Amino acid sequence: MLGPSRLTFVFLAAAATHAVAQQVPPWTEDCRKSTYPPSGPTYRGPVPWYTINLDLPPYKRWHALMTEKAPAVKILLKTLRDFSDAFVPSGKLMALVDQKLPDLLGQLPDPFGKEIEGIAAVIDVPLGEIIAFNIFYEVFTMCTSIVTEDKKGHLLHVRNMDFGLFLGWNINNNSWVITEELKPLTVNLDFQRNNKTVFKSTSFAGYVGLLTGFQPGRFSLTLNERFALSGGFMGIIEWILGKRDAMWVGFIFRSVLENATSYEEAKNLLIKTKIMAPAYFILGGNRSGEGCVITRDRKQSMDLNELNPRQGKWYVVQTNYDHWKNPFFLDDRRTPAKMCLNRTTQEHISFATLYDVLSTKPVLNKLTVFTTLMDVPKGQLESYLRDCPDPCIGW
Ligand SMILES: *[C@@H]1O[C@H](CO)[C@@H](O)[C@H](O)[C@H]1NC(C)=O
Ligand SMILES: *[C@@H]1O[C@H](CO)[C@@H](O)[C@H](O)[C@H]1NC(C)=O
Ligand SMILES: *[C@@H]1O[C@H](CO)[C@@H](O)[C@H](O)[C@H]1NC(C)=O
Ligand SMILES: *[C@@H]1O[C@H](CO)[C@@H](O)[C@H](O)[C@H]1NC(C)=O
Ligand SMILES: *[C@@H]1O[C@H](CO)[C@@H](O)[C@H](O)[C@H]1NC(C)=O
Repeated sequence: MLGPSRLTFVFLAAAATHAVAQQVPPWTEDCRKSTYPPSGPTYRGPVPWYTINLDLPPYKRWHALMTEKAPAVKILLKTLRDFSDAFVPSGKLMALVDQKLPDLLGQLPDPFGKEIEGIAAVIDVPLGEIIAFNIFYEVFTMCTSIVTEDKKGHLLHVRNMDFGLFLGWNINNNSWVITEELKPLTVNLDFQRNNKTVFKSTSFAGYVGLLTGFQPGRFSLTLNERFALSGGFMGIIEWILGKRDAMWVGFIFRSVLENATSYEEAKNLLIKTKIMAPAYFILGGNRSGEGCVITRDRKQSMDLNELNPRQGKWYVVQTNYDHWKNPFFLDDRRTPAKMCLNRTTQEHISFATLYDVLSTKPVLNKLTVFTTLMDVPKGQLESYLRDCPDPCIGW
């Protein structure tokens, strides 16, 4: 079983090997000036929109989307199966996934269990693999999230979704296999009740939790992975062993996005709910001063880092390291992001300039799947698939 120390080891080994193989230190380029709307070599393409009707029973909600995306999900599932067979030979791990995980489905809170069941039926793969596919997002998201406030008190919330697991490097074109396979699965989702938008999200088809999204006029939310010793694997193992008092992070995220009715309510729920894995919740609101990063342990909030425009603190930046500590030296995306925000200045904050910050290497890196820009007061969400042509570091 992969324990947290083993995971850290794999992670560090992969990072170090990669840096040595490239014979370059992780490097930072000067702040980007790209074109907006996006084009050029770092822009892979648009993200398609789909509507998810919350008035349908959970089992049926994802049918239309999954019918279309089934081939792409199967490609990713095959890759994951190949990796798990490489770690635990003779297919034993997948056999366990196929046989044991379905028993746990009934333990998932509504509506997640039924939604996963419906998705597995449409794609026609063993239920256990779709459950594993949903667990997989709990523990491997590297990211950069930023909330800014301009001189008029207008908030914007943006993020890069970096995801790839450090497994499977494609030497033909210098890319991560999983990062590439997630691009065709990336979708913008408009969740509706009574034919009206409740919230919008950018996500991966087949995943019923969420990691990025907003409620128009109320709040925006993103999740970044937090690596900690009592990490995600411990929570998952406890859950499998029967200790079910904590929420999956992607599920609490979706519940808050679906059902919280204000910035304050969202903030309270994200601070107080017991969760399965440590995480950073980045929350933005609809008016001046409403923006914060909640650093979470599994049981409690460790820290609240808030905007304070009156004192000149007009942005918060979060990557995958506690803001009061130095980032891992091979992976400092925080300093370049802050440097480029500083150079942009509060007067010039916009989707275009924030897209530039998120296009600056290594904030943009080989693991970046997509960039999302959210404007809560205006009710706008834009997402773009990304590429990071060489020279570009691995994460
Ligand atoms: C690299 O090659 C793979 C497999 O041919 C392809 O799916 C992927 O899109 C390519 N990635 C880039 C960045 O060109
Ligand atoms: C939503 O709109 C569709 C067609 O536009 C209509 O058939 C349906 O009755 C509407 N549903 C609700 C709950 O209003
Ligand atoms: C959000 O802010 C906009 C612009 O200031 C305002 O028009 C709108 O009423 C606000 N929405 C809510 C729910 O407060
Ligand atoms: C949101 O609330 C509704 C009504 O209580 C509930 O049926 C639904 O399951 C909740 N959604 C989530 C994602 O928890
Ligand atoms: C950005 O500006 C702030 C406030 O002036 C300063 O404290 C910080 O060191 C700057 N950061 C970088 C990376 O330039």
